[in-house]
Amino acid sequence: MTKSRVTTAVWVVLICLAAGSPLNAETGAEAWLRYSALDPQIAKRYERLPAQTVLLGDSAVLKTGQQELTRGMAKILGRTLRPGAGSPTESAIVLGTLAELHALAPELRPPLELRTDGYWLKSTRVRGFECLVVIGGSDRGVLYGVFALLSKLARAQDIAALDEVQQPSAPIRWVNQWDNPDGHIERGYSGPSIFFADGKVRGDLTRAGDYARLLASIGINGCAVNNVNADPHMLEGAFIAQLSRIADAFRPWGVQLSISVDLSSPKVVGGLDTFDPLDPRVAAWWREKVDEIYRQIPDFGGFVVKADSEGRLGPSTYGRTHADAANVIARALKPHGGVVFYRAFVYNHHLDWRDLKNDRAKAAYDNFHPLDGAFDDNAIVQIKNGPIDFQVREPVSPLFGGLRRTNQAIELQITQEYTGQQRHLCFLVPMWKEVLDFDMHIEGESTPVKDLVAGRVFHRPTGGFVGVANVGMDANWLGSPLAMANLYGFGRLAWDPSLSAESILDEWTRLTFGSDPLVVQTVTAMQLSSWHVYESYTGPLGAGTLTNITGNHYDPAPESSEENGWGQWHRADHTAIGMDRTMATGTGYIGQYPPAVQKLYESLANCPDNLLLFFHHVPYTHVLHSGKTVIQHVYDSHYDGAEQAQSFVRQWQALQGHIDEERYRDVLSRLQYQAGEAAVWRDTIYNWIYRLSGIPDEKGRVKTEVR
Ligand code: GCU
Repeated sequence: MTKSRVTTAVWVVLICLAAGSPLNAETGAEAWLRYSALDPQIAKRYERLPAQTVLLGDSAVLKTGQQELTRGMAKILGRTLRPGAGSPTESAIVLGTLAELHALAPELRPPLELRTDGYWLKSTRVRGFECLVVIGGSDRGVLYGVFALLSKLARAQDIAALDEVQQPSAPIRWVNQWDNPDGHIERGYSGPSIFFADGKVRGDLTRAGDYARLLASIGINGCAVNNVNADPHMLEGAFIAQLSRIADAFRPWGVQLSISVDLSSPKVVGGLDTFDPLDPRVAAWWREKVDEIYRQIPDFGGFVVKADSEGRLGPSTYGRTHADAANVIARALKPHGGVVFYRAFVYNHHLDWRDLKNDRAKAAYDNFHPLDGAFDDNAIVQIKNGPIDFQVREPVSPLFGGLRRTNQAIELQITQEYTGQQRHLCFLVPMWKEVLDFDMHIEGESTPVKDLVAGRVFHRPTGGFVGVANVGMDANWLGSPLAMANLYGFGRLAWDPSLSAESILDEWTRLTFGSDPLVVQTVTAMQLSSWHVYESYTGPLGAGTLTNITGNHYDPAPESSEENGWGQWHRADHTAIGMDRTMATGTGYIGQYPPAVQKLYESLANCPDNLLLFFHHVPYTHVLHSGKTVIQHVYDSHYDGAEQAQSFVRQWQALQGHIDEERYRDVLSRLQYQAGEAAVWRDTIYNWIYRLSGIPDEKGRVKTEVR
C-alpha cells in the first residue's frame, strides 16, 4: 500500500467511526441475494452436497449459473465448489438443459414436460455418481434453477430428496423502467437512473448488471429501460450503439433489453413527412430501424408503445387504429422474434367533468375491445390492473375479459406512485393477488385474471406480466429496504401467481433479514397489513384518489381530482359521494364486465364495501354491509389507519439488535415519518369530509367548525 492509500484508509476508518457506521455497513444493495452464512450446525446438514459442479454446455447464461452457484455456496456454506464440464467423474452438481442431460443420461426424465425457462431439481445418480441435477427447459431455466437451489440453502431448507419441477406461469415476465436519458426517473423515488445520465447511456453499467442479476433471481426475463413517455431520440443510430452496452450487461443473466418508442419516430428521427402506420414508407422505416437494432443487439426483446395518451402522439393523427399502429411495428419485429407491447392506457384527459355520463374508467375497454382480433400475434396489449391508474383500490380492468383473440399482459406498478412513494410501507402483493385471482366468469366459466393474462383461457401464443419497477441509484434500489418486497413479490407472482402473499413474504424476509423468528414474524405481520393500513388513512371505500392529483400524487388533496379533465373524480358534494358507474343510472361502466360481474357491482346489495364509492354515488348516511354509515366509516378508518401506522413504529422497535443497525435505523426513520404523515392524512380527510357533509363524527374525536 502506498503512503497516500494508507492515509486515505485511515481517514475512511475515522470518518466511518465518527458517523457511527461500521465499515461493512449493510446498505441493502444485496437485497434478497445476501447469501448470509448459515449457522455452522445448520450448515452441517449439507455436508453431503457435492464439491464439484459440472456444466453441460457453454453458453454465457449457463456459465453465469455456474459462477452464481459457486459464489452462493461459498457465502452460505463456506464451501468452495470446483468448476468442471462434461460428464461427471465424481459426485457433482450437474447444470444443463434437458437436451444436454438426455445425451448424458437418457434414462433421466423430469416428472413433467419442462417448458421454456422451467427447471427440474433432482437428487439422483448420474453415470453411477450421487448427483444433484439442475436441469432447465432453456439455459435461462438452468440459471433460475440455480437461484432456486441457493434460495433453499439460504433458508436452510431440506434438499436431501429433491425432486421438484417449477414452471413459469407465462412467457412474458418483464419490468419497465420509466427512465429518461437525462437520468431522471418519472415516478422514481430512489435516485437517478442506473442506465442513463446527461443524455447518454452511463459509462459504468455495473449497477445495470447487478439489477439484471436481481431480476434473473426472481425469473424476470425482460426489461424495457426507458420511460413510456419515450424520447424519440432513443432510436437514433448513435443511441442504439449505446443501448447495446446495456444489453451486454443484461445478457449473462438472460434478461432481454427492450425500449419504449414514440410512434412519431419515423418523422422525428427518420425525417419522413408522416408517421402514418399504413404508409408503406413508414413500414419500411420501422423495418430498417429494427434490422439496424438487431444487427447490434441480436437478442433484443422488442418495444413498448404509449400512444394517443396523456399528450403522446398516436394513430388518431391519421384516423388509424391502435391495431394499425401496433402491427406496423410488430411486422418489423416479427422476423427477429421480437414483440411489441401496446399499452391500453389510452384515455382523453380533457373530459368534460360536468357531464355525469363521462367516465375515464371506460376508456381502455372502449378503445381496445372493438379491436379484438386485429392485432398481430407478436403484439401484446399491456393493460393496467385497474381501469384508472394504479390507485390504492380499483376493481379489475374489464378489458382482461374483453380480449379473446388478442395477446394481453397485466401491468402492475411496483414503484409506489399513489401508494406512498416508498415513504409509506405498502406491500402490494395482497392487492395484486386479489386482481390476479379475480374471476371474470367469462361465459359462466371460471376465468381468473391470472389465466387470462397468461393466455391460457383463449390459447394465445404469448402473454404475461409487466411490472413498473423504477429502481434507481440508491444503494438499496427502491429507496426503502422494505419496499423491495414488492419487486421480489412481483417476480414471484409472475412466475407463479398461485403463491400466497404469506409464503412470498416468508421467503423474502428470511433472505433479506435472516431467519430469527421474531424478525420473520414481525416483518411479515407489518408487511401483510400495510396495504390496508395505507388504504384506510388515504382512500376509503374505493373513493378513488384523494392524493394531490394535479401535483405530486402523494399529499392529501381530495379536492384536486374534481372539476378537471383528468377524470379521476369522486364526485363528493354536500350530501353524497362516489361515482355512479351503474348501467341503470350511471356511466354504464359496469356493463363492460361479463354478466356475473355486472351482478356483483350493479346493485348496492351486492357491491362490496371496499369498492362502493367506485361504483355508486351514495348519501353519507348510506349504511354499509359492515353496519356503519359511509361517513362514520371514513372517520373511523382514518383514525384506525393512523393508529396502526403508529403501531408499525413500536413493532419495528422490538427488532433492535435482531437486525443490523443500518437497516434498522433506515426503516425506523421511515416508519416514524409515515406515522406523522398518516396523522396529517387523517386530519385532512376528516376535516374535508366534515366540512362537506356537516355530519359530525359520532365519536366526537375532532371538534371542527363547519365553514
Ligand atoms: C401515470 C403516471 C405517469 C405515467 C402514466 C403512464 O399517469 O402518473 O407518470 O406516464 O401513468 O402509465 O403512462
